[in-house]
Amino acid sequence: MCGIVGYVGNEAALPVLIEGMRQLEYRGYDSAGVAIAASGGIARVRRAGQLGNLEEALDGAELSGTIGIGHTRWATHGAPDDTNAHPHVDSSGKVAIVHNGIVENFDVLKEELEAEGHAFESETDTEVVAKLVGSIMESTGVSLLEATLATVDRLEGAFGLVLVHADEPETIVAVRQDSPIIVGANGHAGLVASGIPALLPYTRDVIPLENRQVAEIRPGSVRVLDFEGREVDAETVHVEWDLDAAEKSGYEDFMLKEIFEQPEAVRNTMRGRVDKQGHITLDEVTWSRADIEGITKVVVVACGTSYHSGMAAKHAIEHYTRIPVELDLASEFRYRDPVLDEHSLVIGIAQSGETADTLAAVRFAKDMGAMVVAITNVAGSSIARDADAVLFTHAGPEIGVAATKTFLAQLVALNLFALYLARERGVMEADKLSETIDAMRALPDQIEEVLTLQGEVHRAAKRYADARDFIFIGRGVGMAVALEGALKLKEISYIHAEGYAAGELKHGAIALIEGGVPVVAILTGTALYDKMLGNVQEVKARGAETILIAPRNDERARSLANEMFEMPTTKPLLTPILDTIPLQMLAYFVAKERGLSPDKPRNLAKSVTVE
Ligand code: M6R
Repeated sequence: MCGIVGYVGNEAALPVLIEGMRQLEYRGYDSAGVAIAASGGIARVRRAGQLGNLEEALDGAELSGTIGIGHTRWATHGAPDDTNAHPHVDSSGKVAIVHNGIVENFDVLKEELEAEGHAFESETDTEVVAKLVGSIMESTGVSLLEATLATVDRLEGAFGLVLVHADEPETIVAVRQDSPIIVGANGHAGLVASGIPALLPYTRDVIPLENRQVAEIRPGSVRVLDFEGREVDAETVHVEWDLDAAEKSGYEDFMLKEIFEQPEAVRNTMRGRVDKQGHITLDEVTWSRADIEGITKVVVVACGTSYHSGMAAKHAIEHYTRIPVELDLASEFRYRDPVLDEHSLVIGIAQSGETADTLAAVRFAKDMGAMVVAITNVAGSSIARDADAVLFTHAGPEIGVAATKTFLAQLVALNLFALYLARERGVMEADKLSETIDAMRALPDQIEEVLTLQGEVHRAAKRYADARDFIFIGRGVGMAVALEGALKLKEISYIHAEGYAAGELKHGAIALIEGGVPVVAILTGTALYDKMLGNVQEVKARGAETILIAPRNDERARSLANEMFEMPTTKPLLTPILDTIPLQMLAYFVAKERGLSPDKPRNLAKSVTVE
């Protein structure tokens, strides 16, 4: 999320920053801005929207100087407008900062600074950091580096920071805590960015900072320290990638990169919303307890992959809250004359926030007087503006047309929301709640484990890449996984695939099974495990090739499997967050085996803005 660039050297900084921002713009395009330090001051230009808007604003502007920082924003705190655009400055106007991540305790720090007389122009957490650094410099007279070291200890959350000070025209300071920061230098320049592509025109020898590290970047040199101020012998990495590979961080395709970003997407979506004691905080949801207690039904509306996360959420909401949930395809919803009133809660899910069918459904629900909450990945999107409340999935920009990391992030946001409703309505015991939160907090590491199945999934993909049909079956939340697995496969590999409720197979679709048809079965997450195994036996008896998503060390499943992917243990309702991953990889590798481009499948667009 967010593209960050910094340059200090003997050339004009602005063109270097703009070029770097162009390389990183895919990381966020809600706004763009630059700050150049020159003649004892900071000159800043910031514009909402894509980099082109900033370039227009810069046309003819006097922004000369050989040290500067730039930022392309993926909005988290505050609307995607000019005022919230980075860089932000401190109260003296001499410190400028860009930031990628979320500072969770920014509100506490802001109150403290306000009490000291600092005024804030933006709604961002970043401006708080700028003002904190500036205030430390002013009160103690220390350097930018020392003030930054004193500041980072007070920050909670994720932050990649890059700072300059007008009176230190040869120093950039960069910080990494859970958000990527890469630094490098050549003979006469020092550089920093949130991604390798921005550095490649200047150097191929880069230092990816580790967590809790700070870099002092000067023309021709880089010094790395830890948060305690001790110098660190940081490892330099030589990068062989060309620019295209670098944008994808070395992955062949954005889809694969995004599949591997899922631990981070899930971690970021939970960040600041759950704590070790099992508490849930959803600041974005401001309905009163009485409003929430008054909800008589929930209706989930969405399209495509978002519909599948809604399908899994139906199980979670009903189980935790005991409120009845209806699930609708957004394109069908308003045409079926649904029954809604002010006690209905409508959840509209859209990663892009711009899907025409979902927007129409949400607007219709509002007109009917329902309470509307949106789940989206894009701040400032139409759905975020139209809904009464928004729960953002902080998955970062998703470039591949096939939704992957946003799906997992939606599942996390929806589960959190379901738990939140249950708590507010007083229907969930505290120990059960904190047990479930614990299981959620374990997910990012478990996702890492599932990603290690890459080789096995690739092998299976080679084996079945020429299949004409695929069938995916599951029960309960496993059915949502089956539907999502089938959608992934058909949209990027163009193989006919059906996702089916396993128990429904015998009512028709089983006629499709013949020798060699691959059947993917989801065996985890259901109390009906024996029935699922029965379904696997039925298709096997008719010659199907079975690909099983199964619990670890499950010998009964193994005896029936042609291929088997073993999943770590989690709560049944959370299993889709793990089980979907091998199916995403399966679709990806099948598409590659068939010589297709997974990022840009035919006939599809990332955001479907027509009905
Ligand atoms: O932006 P949305 O979540 O509303 O998009 C909905 C669908 O268009 C989307 O999920 C689509 O099905 C994807 N290509 C699935 O990978």
